[in-house]
Amino acid sequence: MEKIPVFFDCDTGTDDAAAILIAGKMPEIEIVGLGAVAGNVGIEHTYPNTCRVAKLAGIDAPVYKGAEEPMFRPLVKAEYIHANDGLGGKADTISDIPVPEPPKTRAWDAIYNEAVKHNGELVVVAVGPMTDLGIALAKYKELPKLIKKVYIMGGSASFGNITPAAEFNIYVDPEAAKMLFESGIPIYMCGLDVTEKAYLTPEEMDEIGNIGTRATEFIADVCRSSLEFYLTRGYKGKFMHDSCPMLAVVHPEIFSGKMAGIAVETKGKITLGRTVSDYYTDRKFDFENAFVVTDVDREKFVELTLEYLKK
Ligand code: RIB
Ligand code: CA
Repeated sequence: MEKIPVFFDCDTGTDDAAAILIAGKMPEIEIVGLGAVAGNVGIEHTYPNTCRVAKLAGIDAPVYKGAEEPMFRPLVKAEYIHANDGLGGKADTISDIPVPEPPKTRAWDAIYNEAVKHNGELVVVAVGPMTDLGIALAKYKELPKLIKKVYIMGGSASFGNITPAAEFNIYVDPEAAKMLFESGIPIYMCGLDVTEKAYLTPEEMDEIGNIGTRATEFIADVCRSSLEFYLTRGYKGKFMHDSCPMLAVVHPEIFSGKMAGIAVETKGKITLGRTVSDYYTDRKFDFENAFVVTDVDREKFVELTLEYLKK
């Protein structure tokens, strides 16, 4: 069976790291490249973090430097969840893994190059701000015809997490997100509606930590501080946001949702970065531009996460 070619764009980040480790164990896909974009933390961390975690995951694909800031506005970070190093304060535990000089090719050009090379079969998984995709779309007008599907962690049909209205990845670069949603590329959207149901409890995190490999010990360590962040706020565990789109590429059966219209607010003060959706209303847009995921079989999500990480 042909492997699915996947370009993974991320802002590594604690949940990005878990998604990379899972990606490295999925026989059904081939990671053809990774983009490290600024988001959870600055690119001075997301680039080395992505390089080192990809190596830990056994992924040999090149890591390309993505955008150092959003297309039209200053960067907003999420160190309060991911710590200043982006890996829960544990980046030093993998600092023995060498970080190569970044390729001259930047992530947005790499996305285009891989899309051309794979002649319309390339899948992009984007789990950080959509800046690299926004720049690629601005630079290459034929790109939408060359990408099979984009699976994103971003947005929500109902609530926000960085503001009451907006989810972080969209909020950081709403203009880039708007370009993506208006591009015509098929979009599979894992927003907060589903990713906040895809959590790992302390017991499940301990089970991962006890698998006994360097990668699993590392990810359990990395997730510990943000797990505390969620528990103290009354949640049952840590939201593994970015694993959702990654798992969905191969296991759509554990997720559910429907086609809906999504429009991104780029002008609002209170609603900036809102993915306005007609998912829950009969007052419909005249377009349906995303498959909006709202539910997951959490048991199967945990089972698959453990199965891949045990490989
Ligand atoms: O809102 C959650 C998203 O923002 C996740 O992708 C997390 O890693 C951060 O990028
Ligand atoms: Ca992320």
